[in-house]
Amino acid sequence: METIILRGKEVSDAVKERLKEDIDTCKKRGITPGLAVVLIGEDPASTVYVRNKARACEALGIFSETIRLPKDTTQATLNTLIDRLNKNTRFHGILVQLPLPRHLNEKEIIHRIHPEKDVDGFHPFNIGKLILGEDTFLPCTPAGIIEMLRYYQIETSGKHVVIVGRSNIVGKPMANLMYQKSAYANATVTICHTGTSDIKKYTRQADILIVAAGVPEMITADMVKEDATVIDVGVNRVDDPSCKKGYRLVGDVAFEEVKERVSAITPVPGGVGLMTIAMLMQNTVKAAENQAKNMKKHGQ
Ligand code: GUN
Repeated sequence: METIILRGKEVSDAVKERLKEDIDTCKKRGITPGLAVVLIGEDPASTVYVRNKARACEALGIFSETIRLPKDTTQATLNTLIDRLNKNTRFHGILVQLPLPRHLNEKEIIHRIHPEKDVDGFHPFNIGKLILGEDTFLPCTPAGIIEMLRYYQIETSGKHVVIVGRSNIVGKPMANLMYQKSAYANATVTICHTGTSDIKKYTRQADILIVAAGVPEMITADMVKEDATVIDVGVNRVDDPSCKKGYRLVGDVAFEEVKERVSAITPVPGGVGLMTIAMLMQNTVKAAENQAKNMKKHGQ
């Protein structure tokens, strides 16, 4: 059987079409969803991600502003900025691009963003709701992966989902979503991480393998089950003098060899990355809708 290449462009375009209608409805009610994006320093990958987020907002008619601060910005300055953005009704969502420079306290910043504006879904309040199966902002990459599985009608109920990586951004929320008793979940979940002694033993059992480890091409063909679905979250720059930029992007999965063995796989680039941005747009619209409802409830 031919391997299905799970294309982020196709799925994210479908999500964005849906969102355009929601944004139109918001605008008819006098609300333009707004997103504040904060970038500290000049990390090249983060700079590209932030630019792509701003472009996606513009294409959909979401108001956005990118606030760029120098890499030596203090915690106090950043805290003050977050406090201002929390109060600014122009912005329904706030995103601080991670990772932050080492001297800044990531946890303090995540805690400081008002949970109603936490379109990344990283605040402990929202993570708690996610675990309890309550409606909340879902972290964008895990939400995007679920959207892809749904679009391509890949069954998850009763399947064994193996996740490689335990980050707060991807691995942990992904695991907690996949075992929920809900549509496009209801799976049995295993998480592998740097403390796992024999990763291959687990990855070979996966019906759906989700890899978010940040290790270039660590998953080879011998590590996957035949006919599995493989979702590659990794985006790694590897030196390649034959490329114009001097590097090329590869995932955490050795795509060429693994694709021969599996039934479906995401490419890098062109896979999960596009979904992350689409889900951020979706969370921003949801934040605007929620905040409008709350204003109404409180007679404002
Ligand atoms: N860095 C890598 N992925 C993300 C993300 O989804 N949100 C934020 N804020 N930073 C990131």
